[in-house]
Amino acid sequence: MTKPYVFITRKLSEEIIRPLREIAEVHIWNEEERCVPREVLLEEAKKADAILTMLSEKIDKELLDAAPKLKVIANLAVGFDNIDVEYANQKGIAVCNTPDVLTDTTADLTFALLLATARRVVEAAEFVKNGKWKSWSPLLLAGYDVHHKTIGIVGMGKIGEAVAKRATGFEMDILYHNRSRNVVAEERIGASYAALDELIETADFIVCLTPLTEETKGLFNQESFRKMKKSAVFINVSRGPVVDEDALYQALLAGEIAAAGLDVFAKEPVEANHPLLTLPNVVGLPHIGSSSIETRAAMMELCCKNIELVLKHKQPKTLINKGWGLSVN
Ligand code: GLV
Ligand code: GLV
Repeated sequence: MTKPYVFITRKLSEEIIRPLREIAEVHIWNEEERCVPREVLLEEAKKADAILTMLSEKIDKELLDAAPKLKVIANLAVGFDNIDVEYANQKGIAVCNTPDVLTDTTADLTFALLLATARRVVEAAEFVKNGKWKSWSPLLLAGYDVHHKTIGIVGMGKIGEAVAKRATGFEMDILYHNRSRNVVAEERIGASYAALDELIETADFIVCLTPLTEETKGLFNQESFRKMKKSAVFINVSRGPVVDEDALYQALLAGEIAAAGLDVFAKEPVEANHPLLTLPNVVGLPHIGSSSIETRAAMMELCCKNIELVLKHKQPKTLINKGWGLSVN
């Protein structure tokens, strides 16, 4: 019997792929930095029983229609807005993500970005490196306090909870907004549910962690930024399109809010001359929320494990389209 064909859209460590090689013929787009070109992906999809994808690959109807043998897509991320899950589901294709293993790492980065933005860490480090530190002065690079302030978390999933936990160490008041109430966050962490407008109006730090969906696209717009405090710091670690970037730029420029920390952008990679990046009170990062060595290895292993399980007709560990397993025998 011929082995199943697995396509991996980016170079991953051989050690992590090894178990897959034992059961499948594995082909890899062997570049770390450059995405697989669309036409290569479409060609590979024709043969593939499984594809291990990055956020940068659009797994849409065209791609799924080009892949008659495809049984599983394992996406190296918790978010899956790059995949047409509903269509994959119709086609009986399992779609898997990497939740849980990245929760704490992403919460750490969220807090790092919040602190860096509030306390102007990046600006200050550049200041020293550029030889601008000539004297001590009372308000040199003075930022905003984080401790004892109010944090407002929009999107209270597991990462939101982990951010809230960190906020308790800073003795912050914690507000959250979510489609459904998060009892764990309320009872164990002491977070209070707030309507979105109330959160936006009262929080000192507004942290966006909501997944990108049709409903959340452009959720943070001109009106939202106008409702925020002038001293508010906005942090986005979810997906760029949840924010109207022009509105954010105008709000920062006009002093309607104080600063922004962004790990994600509407178009990634963001151009260095993007208006937001010209502002001193914006800290921009290249979508590194879950990027620690340990966690990225765990995410890669989980993707490979999910592929292996589906190819062996078993239930994968972290399935997005829950109805899928019912058709497996
Ligand atoms: C990263 O953004 C992820 O969804 O894991
Ligand atoms: C998922 O969306 C999470 O917050 O873990």
